[in-house]
Amino acid sequence: MLIQNASWITMDGAASTAVPVFRRTFSCGKPIRTAILEVTCDGVYEAQMNGRRIGNFILAPGWTEYRKRLQVQAYDVKDLLKEENTLEITVANGWYRRTNAPWTGTKNPDEFLPAMLIAALHLTMEDGAEETILTDGGWEVSESTVTLSGIFIGEDADMTRKPAFVPAVVRDYPKDMLIPQEGPEVHEQETVWPRASFRTPRGEWVIDFGQNLTGYMAFELDARAGERLSISTAEVLDKDGNFYTANYRSARSQLHYICREGHQSYKPRFTFFGFRYLRIDEAPEGFTAEQIRAVVLHSEMRRTGWLESSDPMLNQLFSNIIWSQKGNYLDIPTDCPQRDERYGWTGDGQIFCRAGTLQYDVRQFFRKWLADVRAAQHENGWVPEVVPSLTAYKPGGGAWSDAVTIIPWQLYETYGDISFLADMYDAMEKWIAYIPTVSTTKDLWTGCWTYGDWLALDWPEGYVPATIELSKRGYSSDDLICSAFYANSVNIVIRAGRLLGKDVSEYEALHSRIVSAYKERFGGCLNTQTEKVLTLHFNLTDEPQVLADALAEQIRNCGMKLQTGLVGTPYLLHELSRYGHTDTAWSLLLRKEYPGWLYPVSRGATTMWEHWDGIKPDGTFWDDDMNSYNHYAYGSVADWVFGVAGGIQPAEAGYARARIAPHPDPRLNSLCAVLDTVHGRIRSFWKYTDSGIRYEIDTPVRTEVVLNGKIRTVEKGKYLF
Ligand code: BGC
Repeated sequence: MLIQNASWITMDGAASTAVPVFRRTFSCGKPIRTAILEVTCDGVYEAQMNGRRIGNFILAPGWTEYRKRLQVQAYDVKDLLKEENTLEITVANGWYRRTNAPWTGTKNPDEFLPAMLIAALHLTMEDGAEETILTDGGWEVSESTVTLSGIFIGEDADMTRKPAFVPAVVRDYPKDMLIPQEGPEVHEQETVWPRASFRTPRGEWVIDFGQNLTGYMAFELDARAGERLSISTAEVLDKDGNFYTANYRSARSQLHYICREGHQSYKPRFTFFGFRYLRIDEAPEGFTAEQIRAVVLHSEMRRTGWLESSDPMLNQLFSNIIWSQKGNYLDIPTDCPQRDERYGWTGDGQIFCRAGTLQYDVRQFFRKWLADVRAAQHENGWVPEVVPSLTAYKPGGGAWSDAVTIIPWQLYETYGDISFLADMYDAMEKWIAYIPTVSTTKDLWTGCWTYGDWLALDWPEGYVPATIELSKRGYSSDDLICSAFYANSVNIVIRAGRLLGKDVSEYEALHSRIVSAYKERFGGCLNTQTEKVLTLHFNLTDEPQVLADALAEQIRNCGMKLQTGLVGTPYLLHELSRYGHTDTAWSLLLRKEYPGWLYPVSRGATTMWEHWDGIKPDGTFWDDDMNSYNHYAYGSVADWVFGVAGGIQPAEAGYARARIAPHPDPRLNSLCAVLDTVHGRIRSFWKYTDSGIRYEIDTPVRTEVVLNGKIRTVEKGKYLF
């Protein structure tokens, strides 16, 4: 990359919060054949040639493990060139700097770096002559119209400001982490228009978009110079119908815009928000809701999975899951897109990834993120709880750090691409080699930090956890959770190793030792739903049917309620239906009361909530502190709907051969699951009719169809049963 010849440049002594804009003017004396701009920065940038935006990558260069990997974008800018040209590149904080929320108690080492730019423009003329313009002391820099910017803050812009350019200064900063762009770009994806505009009881002017989403607002207006438009964002209204922002915690999440004279349009350029509602705190006279719209952002990815049923509430749930995937696949897989977090929590990433791989083609998205997992992995093997790791750089514990094995395996299963396993095999081996170095018990993983079955609801009646922190964790044994995930990760290494032609005999021996030690230690004390679910899911019992029956009974005995948290919930319905309790699985899915998937739907949810009772039946909130309304973890249930309710399973990795075994339930009249696999479209539809159940199955590959226990093998084609 030519950019290696360029220098990092910055603004000397910049003291204000204003975002700098770097500038270089140049002439093209001769006709140009090609013009390629390579660029990146320690933040997020927007580049313009002669006043026109270069490319449509929003928040470039994206978020990676910056100290080791910083993506460089290459743009074809030929069509933007004239004889006299001005190249301007504005560099804001983005994720690189000042992304550490106060709650993390940690300082990002790059926290106080100045904004820096590095770029190379390579011109080839029609006559073969070449010219390269590199960032160097010949560039100029000025404060831009963006006076404050941050991922959590939002943006302040003052359009009355005039630039005052001074020479940029060269700064010594590493270049060895520069890599070509790997991930899919983040683009503007769709526009959502206001559904309603009203005054709240408190008198606030609020605009409702009818959909919780991730992106920003965009508006157009006529104004006098100096007039202001100030906008706050919110996901929900409180029980009285007032604007509610406390769940954003320290994320200010606002736009403050000072108008220039005349007609103008604007949208924030260096941040994003998670919101359904906007509050117009101040606006030029005459401003109306029709002048504002919401722009949805996410990484470029192709939709591959669709679910539709005869039940409108279930359909709303399916829509909520899609919207939470869109809102949280913004360059990296995040926990939530709104509060002072938006981090690449490894646990949430692995929990949702099966559903995620079915609904969208996320191969490129995860190929990049897994490279960051490798880069972030500590040399002794531990995997951080968040990747990119710039914030809470500590190990993630069971079910979180195991993303290093679970996600590549899932990508292999969904897409049949062994390269995910080849790329990650060393990292997986390092991870399972690390566990014994910290565990207090041989062949188990005990005595270590973990988030437990985060947010589980299984504290015994009357038991009050000692601390708030503890109250967020379930009652399942940490040691059991970690040991179960240890067994699973070793098992994945074995299967991956076999596919890659490695000698895995040592791992096979290790796995059987773990399984025996697990049975001995935990077999007699499988109390919580999650303890049973994990034991079943990772095949850690000799009597799975007995255990599954006990699980179903436990669920019935507590009033057909699930009590599982982030760790147990994704596997709960799978284990019930795997052992003949599909009716119980359906009961949990169709439950409209708290806790359950349709309860938030009954409260008007348009995305997945972090807590089943984010809004309680009386309209009050679970809590201000940790209450996201766009958290996809429980949306993992989509993989049960595709794989069990609709019954679409890979019989071979990548659905090279399929197995279709639908599990209809009379409480639903019909269900349709469509999956665009790498081998073509699979469709499974069932419907209750007067004469029985009608099944329609389309498959592009040889498929084993299992209906009412009867197995038939069919070739590619459309079938009706
Ligand atoms: C996140 C979770 C995450 C957790 C760790 C939370 O603040 O939002 O989803 O996995 O921390 O327990």
